[in-house]
Parts: sequence; C-alpha cells; structure tokens
Amino acid sequence: MVYALRRPILWAADQPQIKKALLSTPLSRKVVSRFVAGERVSDAVDAVRRLRADGIHAAIDHLGEDVTTEYQALAGQQANLELIQALDDAGLAEGAEVTLKLSALGQGLGRSGVALARTQAGAIADEASRNGVLVSVDMEDHTTVDATLQTVESMRQGTPSVGVALQAMLRRTAEDLPRMAAAGGRVRLVKGAYDEPESVAYSGGREVDRAYARGLGRLFAGDGYPMVATHDPALISLALRLADEHRRTPDEFEFQMLYGIRSDEQKRLAAAGYRVRAYVPYGVDWYGYFTRRLAERPANLAFFLRSLVPG
Ligand code: FDA
Repeated sequence: MVYALRRPILWAADQPQIKKALLSTPLSRKVVSRFVAGERVSDAVDAVRRLRADGIHAAIDHLGEDVTTEYQALAGQQANLELIQALDDAGLAEGAEVTLKLSALGQGLGRSGVALARTQAGAIADEASRNGVLVSVDMEDHTTVDATLQTVESMRQGTPSVGVALQAMLRRTAEDLPRMAAAGGRVRLVKGAYDEPESVAYSGGREVDRAYARGLGRLFAGDGYPMVATHDPALISLALRLADEHRRTPDEFEFQMLYGIRSDEQKRLAAAGYRVRAYVPYGVDWYGYFTRRLAERPANLAFFLRSLVPG
C-alpha cells in the first residue's frame, strides 16, 4: 500500500468541489464497473451468480455510508432486506453473506444513532439467518470502533455467526481481536482503508503488514473463524502456512478479496479447494468506496484519470 499517496488522495476526494466535479463527470461505465457490480440489486445478484460459477462465495455490500437523515438510514435497512429476498428468489441465499456498514444504518445520527443502527442491523441479521444468509459488519474509521464492536456483540446474542472486520493498522486491534474471535467468532482481518492519526494507528506499510501478520497468527491459533481479507501475496502465503501449522481444514477459514481485484488469484485459490469470498459492492452511492480503492493503488488512479480524458 502506498501510504504516502493515500492521505492526499483521500483528502482530495473529500473536498466538496472535487467531489462535485467527479460526481458530475459522465464516468465511463468501464471504470466504475471494475470495482462495483452495478447500481441495482439485480446487478449484485448477477455478480453473485457469476462468482458462484467459479466456486467463489460473495459478501454483498449495499453501498452507502454516513447517512444524514433517519429516512436514509431506514432506506439502508430496506435495501438489505430486499437484497436478502432477491438472493433467496434467485436460489443463491445459502452460503452468501450480506455485509453492513453501520454508518449507513444511522450509527452517526446523534445520540440515538447507535441504538437505531443496532436495531436495524439486528433486524437484518434475523431476516438473513431465516434465509441461510450470513451477516458481517464492516469496520469504519477509528472513532466508530467501540460502538461497532458493542453492536456486533449484541447482534451475536441472537445470531452467533455475525462476523466483524478488524483493522490491523489500528493499535487497539491487538486487544479487540481475542475478544471478537472467542468461541468461534468470525473475524475478517483487513489492513484498514481509512486515513487515521498516528496516535491510534501504524502509519507505515511495513508496520501495518507486521501487525497484520501478528493478527493472523493469533486468529489461526485461537478459536475464531479467520477471514483473511487481503490481496497481499505474502500474507496469503502466511495464512496457508498457519492453516497447515494449526491443522485447519479448508472449511475452517476463508480468503476474502474485493470484487474486481486479483480475480485470477480468487479463482486459483477456489480451484485449489480453499473457501474464497469476494466482497461485492453495488448501489448508487459508490463514491466513498471507489475513492478508497483509488487511494490504495496509484495505478488505479492513473486508469481512472485516463478515463476522464475524452476520445
Ligand atoms: P495492499 O494494499 O498492500 O495490496 C497488496 C496487493 O494487492 C497490491 O500490491 C496489489 O497487487 C493488490 N491490490 C490491493 N489493492 C488494490 C486495488 N485497490 N486495486 C488493485 N490491486 C490492488 N477496510 C476497512 O477499513 N474496513 C473494512 O470493513 C474492510 N473490508 C474489507 C473486506 C474485504 C473482503 C477486503 C479484501 C478488504 C476490506 N477492506 C476494509 C480494505 C482493506 O482495509 C485494504 O484497504 C485493502 O484490502 C487493500 O489492502 P491489501 O491487504 O489488499 O494490501
């Protein structure tokens, strides 16, 4: 990860003038569709079906974050319920996962936001488990971690399989991980996609990689279900070695990668008998997700800028 470029790209993407200019540019479908399955629920279902044909499971994310009204938060819940229904109608519910951003369910809406998001996420988890669909909760910036972990713990009382993402870049993850991975807890270990202050996060790529490797070691040695969410070849190899060392069979952990990134590696691991899950985002609110992918990799930014040049 090129940390030096990540901060300015995320900063620029957040500036209202730049955001407005980019959103009003007729982006070529090709660019956004490399990372986003489409805008409609049927696009997401089609992507899940295509992945399934390659032996790859899906974690589907209805795009949206940082909602500003209760109405938007309720719409976020509704979208997830529709998604579960659509997966069931298509015969694709079993083994699929829905992944939630609590900010899209209202977590940031003042004093009552946490309770609102918790109620909505709980209702989604209930409906999902009735249909054989798994649920995980994404992790957002460090200010939201306490509330998110508490919500996941409360969801797990009704649905113990609820998973959670933990970010290796956050120093606190060393303490959060054993708690969230106890008793079979599903933990998705990621490097972390947000621009965080040094007081709470490792700032260099190497330090984050080392923290990720330590987290993987703890996950594989513990009782939890490791979800190894990275495209990094060295960390994927480490996970395979740890699985061997701790005698975990291929159904006792899984690899996760983002839709459209290292797709050949996703297919290769699935063909070798490992469980692989692709994170499939869809919806009209793609801007935040898309800019975090650009910030991760300057080559993606170059690809994107070229698409803005006419002709
Ligand atoms: P790193 O960025 O070092 O990349 C390693 C290699 O992977 C690169 O050299 C390149 O080959 C390839 N690669 C990585 N990113 C690429 C890109 N954008 N385009 C093309 N190639 C790329 N974050 C978070 O904060 N909260 C969350 O809930 C989640 N959830 C989540 C789910 C899943 C399934 C994944 C895979 C990732 C997340 N993330 C996340 C994002 C995560 O924190 C991180 O930003 C990205 O995965 C990139 O980090 P890598 O581990 O892939 O390593």
